[in-house]
Amino acid sequence: MLLDGYGRTARDLRVSLTDRCNLRCTYCMPAEGLEWQPVEETLTDDEMLRVIRIAVERLGVTKIRFTGGEPLLRGGLEDIVAGAARLDPRPELALTTNGLGLDKRVAALAAAGLDRVNISLDSLDPQRYAQLARRDRLDDVLKGIEAADRAGLRPVKVNSVIMRGINEPDIVPLSQFCLERGYELRFIEQMPLGPRGEWDREAMVTAEEILAPLQERYGLSAAEEPRGAAPAQLWQVAADDSQPGGRIGVIASVTHPFCGDCDRTRITSDGQVRTCLFSRTETDLRAILRGGGTDDDVVAAWTGAHRAKPRAHGIDDDDFVQPERTMSAIGG
Ligand code: GTP
Ligand code: 5AD
Ligand code: SF4
Repeated sequence: MLLDGYGRTARDLRVSLTDRCNLRCTYCMPAEGLEWQPVEETLTDDEMLRVIRIAVERLGVTKIRFTGGEPLLRGGLEDIVAGAARLDPRPELALTTNGLGLDKRVAALAAAGLDRVNISLDSLDPQRYAQLARRDRLDDVLKGIEAADRAGLRPVKVNSVIMRGINEPDIVPLSQFCLERGYELRFIEQMPLGPRGEWDREAMVTAEEILAPLQERYGLSAAEEPRGAAPAQLWQVAADDSQPGGRIGVIASVTHPFCGDCDRTRITSDGQVRTCLFSRTETDLRAILRGGGTDDDVVAAWTGAHRAKPRAHGIDDDDFVQPERTMSAIGG
C-alpha cells in the first residue's frame, strides 16, 4: 500500500501520458510553448502498462486517471486503456482531456474500457475561449463533449479555471450550459503551476467569488454526499423553469486546501513518481524499469516515496517555491 506519514493511503493514480499539448492555456503554459520531453525519455506503452499493473496488483490502486499534456496526443491511448481494463481487480478508468479530437476517438476509448471523461472548457464565447487557450478551437471542444455524452461516458465532467478579467462573465452561462445537458461542472481556482512568476494570489478568482453569482442566479445548497478525497466541493442547484437542476463543484485548492484527505499518487510521462502536485522531488521509476529492476524494486521505490509525501502543498507558506514542472508536464 502507498501509505504516508500522515495516515493517508493513495488509491488514485494519475498517469501523465505525454507532456505535449495542442492548446496553450494561459494558466498552464507559456505562449511560445515548452520544449517537449525527448521521445526516448518517455515511457513506452509497455512500460506504462507495467507501472499501472504494479500499482493495481501490488499497491492497492483502484482508480486510474489518464492525463497529459493532452492524453489524446498519445497514439497508444486506446491500447493502454484496454490493457488497464484487463487488470484484476479492474480499476476505474478515467480521462482528463481538452476535448480536441475526442469526438473521433471516444467510441474506441469506450470500447477499450474507459469509464469517464473530464473535459476542460473555460468559456462558451469563441473569442474568450481563444484568448484563454490561445487557439480558436471552441467548436471542436463542444463536439468532443457532446460525443462523450452520447458514448455514455457519464457523468461527463467539465472543468473551468476562472481567470480575473477574462472569463468571469462565463460563470453563469457555463453553469446553465452544463445544467441543461446534465454535465457536472467544476470551477477551479487557478494554482501556481503555470508559467513561472505569473500567478498572483491577490488576482486569483476565489471560490467565494465564483460562488457569488451562482448563489444569486440559482441559490445553492450544500450537496448531501460527503466530499471524501475528491478535490471538488459539490453544490446542489434546484430545478427551475430554465434548467432541470443538478450539481456544480468548486475545486478550491488555494482557499480551501484538501490535502488532508489526499488519496493521489502520480506518474509522469517520463516515469517519475510525484507524491504531490506540488512536489519538488521525484522518484525515478524509469531507471528501475530500464535497469532490469524487478516488480519488487518498483514497489519498494514507490512505497518509499510515499512515506515522504508532504503534508500539504504549502502554497501559503513564506518559503513556497513553485515546482520545476509546469502543469502540462504533471497532468493536474
Ligand atoms: P474526479 O473527481 O475523479 O472526476 O477527478 P478530478 O477532479 O480529481 O480530476 P481532474 O483531472 O478533472 O482535475 C480537476 C482539477 O483538480 C485540476 O485542476 C487538478 O489539477 C485538480 N486536482 C486533482 N488532484 C489534485 C490534487 O491532488 N491536489 C490539488 N491541489 N489539485 C488537484
Ligand atoms: N490551476 C488550476 N487548474 C489548472 N489546470 C491546468 N492548469 C491549472 C492551474 N494552473 C486544469 C485544466 C484541466 C485540469 C487537468 O487542470 O484546466 O482541466
Ligand atoms: Fe493543454 Fe490542458 Fe495545459 Fe490547456 S491546461 S495547455 S489543454 S495541458
